[in-house]
Amino acid sequence: MKSTPTIAVLASGEGSNFQALCDATQSGVLNARIVGLVASRAGIGVLEKAKTVGVPAQVLNPKSFPDRGQWDQQVLKTLQNWKAEWVVLAGFLSLIGPEVLKTFPQRIVNIHPALLPKFGGAGMYGIRVHQAVIEARASETGITIHLVDGEYDRGRVLAQVKIPVTGISDAAVLADRVRELEHEHYPRVLNDLVWGRLTQA
Ligand code: GRF
Repeated sequence: MKSTPTIAVLASGEGSNFQALCDATQSGVLNARIVGLVASRAGIGVLEKAKTVGVPAQVLNPKSFPDRGQWDQQVLKTLQNWKAEWVVLAGFLSLIGPEVLKTFPQRIVNIHPALLPKFGGAGMYGIRVHQAVIEARASETGITIHLVDGEYDRGRVLAQVKIPVTGISDAAVLADRVRELEHEHYPRVLNDLVWGRLTQA
C-alpha cells in the first residue's frame, strides 16, 4: 500500500489556509502528513498556528540571504530534510526559485483567490484582487488551484470553483466569501492530487 503522502506548506501571512489544511488532515478530508511550514517572514500569524498544531516551522526570508540563489538552496534543503513530497503554497508571496522548481516537477501547487488568468500576476494578492474584480464589474469570481512554474499565478490549472459577484460591492465581503471557498476546496483538491485521483479541470 502507498505510504501517506508528505506535504510542506509555504506561507507569508495569517495562515487561514494552512489551518484549513491542518484541520483537513485531522478530519480525514486530506489524507496526508504536513511535515513542515516555511514562512517567508518572522512574526506572522501562520507561525503561531504552526506552533499550536505542532508542525515544525522555519522562517526563510529571501531578504536575509545574500542572493536569491542561496535562499532557493536553503528552501530546498529544508524541504528535503522534512522529506516533503509535495510543496503547497498557501499565501506565499515570494517567487519559487529554480532549484526547488527543478526538484519538485509538477509537485508544487498554489491557490489564487480569483479565476486565473484574470486578476493574477505580480502584485495581485490580498484585497487588491477582490477590489480589481469589483472594479471590473466581473459577474463571477472564485478560486484557482494550479501547478506552479517560474512566474506568478501561471502553470497548469488543476481546479476552479466559481461564485457570482452580483450584489457584492465591498471587497472585504468578497474576500470572506472567497476565503470560505478556499478552505472548503483546497484540502479536497490536494487530496485528489496527492493520491493520483485528480481529473483534469
Ligand atoms: C489566500 O487568499 C490565497 O488564495 C492567496 O493568499 C491568501 C492567503 O490567506 N494565495 P491565508 O494566509 O491562508 O489566510
